[in-house]
Amino acid sequence: MKKMMNEILPEVVKPTCDPLKILKGQKALVTGANSGIGKAIAIAIGNAGADVAVNYIAHEDQAEIVCNEIKKSGSKAIPIQADVSKEDQVLNMYQQIYKEFGTIDILVSNAGVQRDSPLEKMTLEQWNTVLSINLTGQFLCCREAVKEYKHRGVRKGISCAAGKIICMSSVHQVIPWGGHVNYAASKGGIHMMMQSIAQEVAPHRIRVNAIAPGAIRTPINTSAWSTPEAYKALMTLVPYNRIGEPEDIAHCAVWLCSDYADYITGTTIFIDGGMTLFPGFATGG
Ligand code: NAI
Ligand code: BGC
Repeated sequence: MKKMMNEILPEVVKPTCDPLKILKGQKALVTGANSGIGKAIAIAIGNAGADVAVNYIAHEDQAEIVCNEIKKSGSKAIPIQADVSKEDQVLNMYQQIYKEFGTIDILVSNAGVQRDSPLEKMTLEQWNTVLSINLTGQFLCCREAVKEYKHRGVRKGISCAAGKIICMSSVHQVIPWGGHVNYAASKGGIHMMMQSIAQEVAPHRIRVNAIAPGAIRTPINTSAWSTPEAYKALMTLVPYNRIGEPEDIAHCAVWLCSDYADYITGTTIFIDGGMTLFPGFATGG
């Protein structure tokens, strides 16, 4: 297949990767990688040939499980504890990556939390916690990745791009979410941050994109899917009529940071079973 593609494609769009291991030789960091979506992405990226730094904040045992799963595919994996909202810890995490892997090619900025409350009861602490982890944490991780990508440039034979970033957003970057204003504000912020960074660094061959998942079955939203009543109510918001699984996001993430997506930057890919299609309008309006 590789030979065929190389014959057909002009030089400028010839992926440098092995089609069976599309991230071979690349070094990746996935934040919040010991649970849910981050875990699935870390494993999928490892299976695609990249060495992976598995960031976690708590539950080291879960990070070890992810690393062991990645190692089965022959890729390297290291657990790194860091709170992404703390600048010194993020800097330290990148230093550990450079010590173990030498450099970085892929950042999946995924760590995120919810602290839900009606507006009038929302404390400043709940607001600050969500903004610090979901938005400031992504800023810090993106900034460090961009420094390395710009300084180092394209690694010939490894990837067409000098580096890739995926920011984990949410359908709530466009769907307002009462009772979760801190969370929706953080995801709206990620959207503009991602596009502004993408615009700034594109001339350096750095690609920056976001993935906006709908309802995915993870610990962050257990109450939305763990009882038949909750699941039924959730399905009224999902035209495709099933909840998303972490692997639905992981498959896209692998492709998005591979050379097969080399002309994609500044875009958000919605993976939501149609949640953003205003399902109420199928029968109303
Ligand atoms: P999860 O709760 O399973 O995973 C969140 C991860 O972030 C955990 O590994 C957690 O330890 C980590 N984390 C939290 N605070 C951290 C910090 N200060 N530093 C480092 N890591 C930290 O939930 P899920 O669903 O896997 O969430 C991952 C991302 O996906 C989040 O950004 C979330 O907003 C986003 N998302 C999730 C959706 C869903 O339906 N599950 C839908 C849309 C977006
Ligand atoms: C939230 C989940 C929610 C989903 C769809 C995500 O961003 O973290 O709790 O189920 O959006 O509303």
